[in-house]
Amino acid sequence: MQLLLLNGPNLNLLGQREPGLYGHQTLDVIEQQLKERAAAAGVRLDSYQSNFEGALVERVHQAMGTVNGILINAGAFTHTSIALRDALLGVAIPYVELHLSNTQARESFRHQSYLADRAVGVVSGFGPFSYDLALDGLLNYLRQVEA
Ligand code: DQA
Repeated sequence: MQLLLLNGPNLNLLGQREPGLYGHQTLDVIEQQLKERAAAAGVRLDSYQSNFEGALVERVHQAMGTVNGILINAGAFTHTSIALRDALLGVAIPYVELHLSNTQARESFRHQSYLADRAVGVVSGFGPFSYDLALDGLLNYLRQVEA
């Protein structure tokens, strides 16, 4: 099984960026630990981060035919990007939306998600542990679908 972790704008700054909200862990560490967790479950996980909407759209397109599931923290594009939504629906790969912070407990413009209604599920508010929960949720979903 092959999974893809996507991170959107400003998530490359994790560790330095608003640590009160997003914690002290860097994206490199989060990605590495998630790859290990995936490997322990017998799954390959690739990761990609970009600050550019079109680059994320392109990476979603590339996943078509090879990737079984996507974990996505689209950052601010969650709340703005119809293009990313269309890309995810276009390739028809199941995805889980995730966030470090609890977006529902923040500004009202973060309550809107262009991805959530078509996601397998949404994980939000557990800091870096959101990534682990999202991985477990996606694996559980994919294994049920396969069975
Ligand atoms: C975020 C929440 C978004 O609203 C914000 O724009 C981010 C990070 C999170 O992980 O909590 O960049 O996706």
